[in-house]
Amino acid sequence: MAYHLSVMMEETLEALNIQPDGIYLDGTVGGGGHSSRILEQLDNGLLIAMDKDDEALRYSKNRLKKIGGNFVLARGDFAHAQDLFDELEIDVIDGALLDLGVSSHQLDEALRGFSYHQDAPLDMRMDRSQRISASTIINEYSEDDLTDILYRFGEEKWARRIAQLIIEHRPLETTFELVDVIKRAVPAGARDQKHPARRTFQAIRIAVNNELDDLAQSIEDIVERLAPGGRIVILTFHSLEDRIVKNTFRLLQKGCQCPEGLPVCICEGESLGKVITRKPIIPTNKELQFNPRSRSAKLRVFERRA
Ligand SMILES: C[S@@+](CC[C@H](N)C(=O)[O-])C[C@H]1O[C@@H](n2cnc3c(N)ncnc32)[C@H](O)[C@@H]1O
Repeated sequence: MAYHLSVMMEETLEALNIQPDGIYLDGTVGGGGHSSRILEQLDNGLLIAMDKDDEALRYSKNRLKKIGGNFVLARGDFAHAQDLFDELEIDVIDGALLDLGVSSHQLDEALRGFSYHQDAPLDMRMDRSQRISASTIINEYSEDDLTDILYRFGEEKWARRIAQLIIEHRPLETTFELVDVIKRAVPAGARDQKHPARRTFQAIRIAVNNELDDLAQSIEDIVERLAPGGRIVILTFHSLEDRIVKNTFRLLQKGCQCPEGLPVCICEGESLGKVITRKPIIPTNKELQFNPRSRSAKLRVFERRA
C-alpha cells in the first residue's frame, strides 16, 4: 500500500510557483510526495523538509535520494522551523508548504493508535519520543480537561458524557476499549452517519500532537521569512485548522491589529502580503474518486508583499 497519496498535488505545485533556484520549506514531508515533486523542479535551489515522525523521515529520505539535488531533511516541529533556518544561515525562503494532519501511513499502521477502525494501544503520537500520548490524556486528565479537549478540538456535543464515562471505565488501554466507551456515551438515536468515535479521536489526536496551539504563530513566522512574492501554501483537513489558517492569512493581509472601532490605527501593523485564495481550493471530482481521503481538504495560499 502507498505510504500516502498526496492531496491536490498539481494545485499545490502551481500555487507554490516554484523558482528553480529558490529555497523551499516542506514543513510536513510525510511520505515525501509533495517534496519529491518540488525537488524535481529545483535546479540550484534547496528543499528543506521537516517532519515530527521518524518513520516519515526515513521513508522520504530514500524517495528524495533517488531524485537527487539539494535537500535537507530535519526531524522536528515546523513551529521551530526558524531555528533550523538560523542553523542553516538562511534569512529568506521562496516558498513553504504545510500539508497538515496525519498521513495515510500513520492512520493505516494499526500500532500507532490513530484509527478507531483498528485495535491498538492508545498512542496517537506523531513524534514517538514525546512523553504525552493518548493514554496519558485518557487515563490521567481530569473530567473537566477531557471535556474541554473533546469540545474544543472535536466539537463533540456529548463531550461531558464521554469524559464522565471515560473516567468511570479507566484505565483504558486500547483504541477499541475507548470506542466502546464512546458508544455507550453517545445515545444511538443521537448519532449521524459518521462513526460515533470520529470526533473524540480527532480531538485526542489534536491534543496529543498539540496541532492547533502554535499554528497561527508558525504561519506568521514563516510568512515573515518569505522573500517578496514568495508563497505559503497550506492544506487543511478539518474546519478548526482551516479557520485558523483563514483568519491568520486575513490578519497578515490587514496588518493593523487594533480593536474594531478605533478612529486611527495605533498598532502600526503593516500588511505582509495578500491572500491569493479568496475561497479555498478543493479537490476535483476526479481526485475524490481515486483518493476519498482527500474529501475534506482545503488549500489556501498567501503571497508575501513584493
Ligand atoms: C498529510 S501528511 C504529509 C504528506 C506529504 N505532503 C506527502 O505528500 O507525502 C502530514 C505529515 O506531517 C507531519 N506533521 C504534522 N504536524 C507537524 C508539525 N507540526 N511539525 C512537523 N511535522 C508535522 C505528520 O507527522 C505527517 O507525517
